[in-house]
Amino acid sequence: MHSIYARVNNVSATLSSTVMALLAAIALSSFIFTAQPTGSLDIASVKVFAGEARRYPHRRQEYAFVNFNITADLSPLFHWNTKQLFVYLEAEYTNAKGVRNQVIFWDRIVRRQEDAVIAVSGKNKYPFREISAKFKGSTPANYTLKYNLMPFVGVLTHGEAVRVTDPIDFPLARERVE
Ligand SMILES: *[C@@H]1O[C@H](CO)[C@@H](O)[C@H](O)[C@H]1NC(C)=O
Ligand SMILES: *[C@@H]1O[C@H](CO)[C@@H](O)[C@H](O)[C@H]1NC(C)=O
Repeated sequence: MHSIYARVNNVSATLSSTVMALLAAIALSSFIFTAQPTGSLDIASVKVFAGEARRYPHRRQEYAFVNFNITADLSPLFHWNTKQLFVYLEAEYTNAKGVRNQVIFWDRIVRRQEDAVIAVSGKNKYPFREISAKFKGSTPANYTLKYNLMPFVGVLTHGEAVRVTDPIDFPLARERVE
């Protein structure tokens, strides 16, 4: 009785370490074979409007509005270990107080390789506001299309698909026309 139990235990230990090794190999191989996507990202315009802060009616708050065009082929990121992609547009800049900001203002989840060719002419999906209330004095912003690849097995990987070559200035705020 005792020896049968020990044998079963042994077999299952061997089996699970084999499975672990296999999973590790899958995770590693998909990490190595992740290809670089291609595409272009154009920021058609950046506008800044001043308005009232939503939660503080007497405080001024500036909002940036970004119009952009993306054409990108993310299908090289789809392989047998790709569950889905989280694709997003990020603006990166340093504000007048010297604080570095990374703001995600548009995103999309891509679940199938057939949907991995992205052609979007759009504007921000999420409010893009500066935490110190004003964009004035901020550095020009870098705009980047990035992705998180969620695998079936293994760790999340991050990457950059396309970036705008030259940083773009924030214009001075205009009064919002409601
Ligand atoms: C973006 O696309 C629109 C139409 O989809 C076009 O009119 C515009 O010129 C494009 N802008 C840039 C910067 O490529
Ligand atoms: C923007 O990108 C350039 C080139 O990669 C880099 O030198 C610069 O520091 C970036 N600016 C910000 C605010 O991240």
